[in-house]
Amino acid sequence: MEIVFATSNKGKFKEVNKLFENSEIIIKSLSDFDSIAEVIEDKDTFEGNAQKKAKEIFEQVKIPVIADDSGLVVEHLNGEPGVYSARYAGENCSYADNNKKLLSELSGFEKPNKAKFVCWAVYYDGNDFINAQGEVNGEITEQLSGTGGFGYDPLFIPDGYSKTMAEISPEEKNQISHRGKAFRELKAKLIQKGLLHS
Ligand code: IMP
Repeated sequence: MEIVFATSNKGKFKEVNKLFENSEIIIKSLSDFDSIAEVIEDKDTFEGNAQKKAKEIFEQVKIPVIADDSGLVVEHLNGEPGVYSARYAGENCSYADNNKKLLSELSGFEKPNKAKFVCWAVYYDGNDFINAQGEVNGEITEQLSGTGGFGYDPLFIPDGYSKTMAEISPEEKNQISHRGKAFRELKAKLIQKGLLHS
C-alpha cells in the first residue's frame, strides 16, 4: 500500500519512515510528485492544520495521505510558539533563528521553563479523517546541546532525561517523542479499521 506523507520537512520524513519500516506501507514524499501546490497552514490548531494538509494533498495526489502538524508549546509564553513553531522568528527563518528567539523570549523567567512538544497525525483517503495525537513534556535549557534531530531539539530536555532531544539516538527519540506516539497510535487505528494489516 502506498501512502504519501504530506511534508517537505526532511527531519520529520526520516522519523515517520522509520516508524513504518517493516510494515506493508511504502511512504512516498511530496518530492516524488511534480508540482504539488503548497498548503497554507493558517488554522489555529495543530489538528486543523494537519487535516488541511492531508485533505489538500489528497485532492492532488489521489492516493491515501498521512500528514502531521506539530510544534513546541511553552508554559511561560502562554503556549507560544505553538502552531507558529516553524516560523517563530519570521517567514523563511532557520532553526537557529527560532532557537535564538526562544532563548531571548525566555530570558528573565524563573526556571524551569516547562514546555511540551505536541503532534497531531492524520490519515485521509477521501473518507473520514483518522486522527491521533502525541505529546512529550520537558523543559527548555539555556544552551544549545547536541546535533541530532531538528528544530528545537537542542534546547529541549524531555522529563526524566538530563540530555536534550538532540543528544539522544533517533531510535530513542522515536520511542518518547510526540511524533512517535502520534504515529504509533495512528498506525494502531489504521490496523483496527482494517486499512492496514501490519
Ligand atoms: P510543522 O511542519 O508545521 O509541523 O512545523 C513543525 C515545527 O515545529 C518545526 O519546524 C520545528 O520548529 C518544530 N518541531 C516539531 N517537531 C519537532 C521535533 O521533533 N523537534 C524539534 N522541533 C520540532
